[in-house]
Amino acid sequence: MGVPLLDLAAQYKEIGDELNSAVLGILESGMFILGPAVAEFEKNAAEYCGTKYSIGVASGTDALVISLLACGIGKGDEVITTPFTFFASAEAISNIGAIPVFADIKPDTFNIDPVEIEKKVTSKTRGIMPVHLYGQCADNDAIKAIADKHNLMIVEDACQAIGSKYRRVKAGALGNAGAFSFFPTKNLGGAGDGGLITTNDEKICELSKKLRVHGSSKRYYHDTLGYNSRLDALQAAVLNVKLKYLDSWNENRRKNAAYYNQLLAGVEGVETPIETADRYHIYHQYTIRVKGKRNDVQAAFAENKIGHSIYYPLPIHLQTPYAYMGFGKGSFPVTEKAADEVISLPIYPELTESQMDEVVEVIKKVVG
Ligand SMILES: Cc1ncc(COP(=O)(O)O)c(C=O)c1O
Repeated sequence: MGVPLLDLAAQYKEIGDELNSAVLGILESGMFILGPAVAEFEKNAAEYCGTKYSIGVASGTDALVISLLACGIGKGDEVITTPFTFFASAEAISNIGAIPVFADIKPDTFNIDPVEIEKKVTSKTRGIMPVHLYGQCADNDAIKAIADKHNLMIVEDACQAIGSKYRRVKAGALGNAGAFSFFPTKNLGGAGDGGLITTNDEKICELSKKLRVHGSSKRYYHDTLGYNSRLDALQAAVLNVKLKYLDSWNENRRKNAAYYNQLLAGVEGVETPIETADRYHIYHQYTIRVKGKRNDVQAAFAENKIGHSIYYPLPIHLQTPYAYMGFGKGSFPVTEKAADEVISLPIYPELTESQMDEVVEVIKKVVG
């Protein structure tokens, strides 16, 4: 039998005709760079996220880079972020010449701990980059209070969190700017790379738009150095179709998470994910902790063809490009423990109960 980690073919089966005609429409129009499809998607995405503006860019990584710059962050500035995230969060900070300063996470939600953020604020700190890991928003009230107190910008790494909410406010509308990824495996995935910046600030919007076209606001006149980083019209057309389904897909993920929670309740050595009362988790990942026997669970999954992944096995502070910072094992204990224990299970919207039964049976055989 077996269960895949993700089944994009099942999604294509559901909406393939609509996607095909949207893509053909772009091919026929010949408008491949920006143009009406991108403008329409930007309008729809801003409306969806509850922000005044959104700006389509080439990837989530570029959305982080451009939004940091558009927030006025640059060389030598410190940005506080989590070491328990995809590498791109810290990489984006470093690639603009700023310095990522790591703050450990909370053990229950895996998100950055505001108490640890406060300890890391210095005279050089200019921003905070919370990452809404696995699709659940970080502690925004506490983060915002620190940002207000120290006059810091908040750039949300919302790459895994489209549709996620903190006290009814959507990810991407919680800080000064939000960055999203449309990598195909995301809850809203394109047919290739793509990204988006959201903001309520007109200046951040205008600067982001400029930075995505080589720093130019008028063709062939350049005010600043920028990038070639536009969301492709083909991707925008695909995303415009898929955005209509996003809420129902997120709801299905939540139903699946509730079913897993039920099946795994009381299973010794397994901790299911926590959704705090003030949040709406969109379960980009359904990530459990397995105490002690994670390697055995992984081996059993491999043997039974159960798709799974570890996000992320090596925290950022222990990655080679950050060796210069001199962190060793034990520097961020909550993060390191999480990296040793987490494993993500299949959670995609089309997953069936019998498939989830199969996944949990394999876990129970190992840990039971
Ligand atoms: C938390 C996080 N940040 C940044 C990124 C980068 O996005 P992209 O792959 O679209 O560049 C991703 C996605 O892969 C992500 O999960």
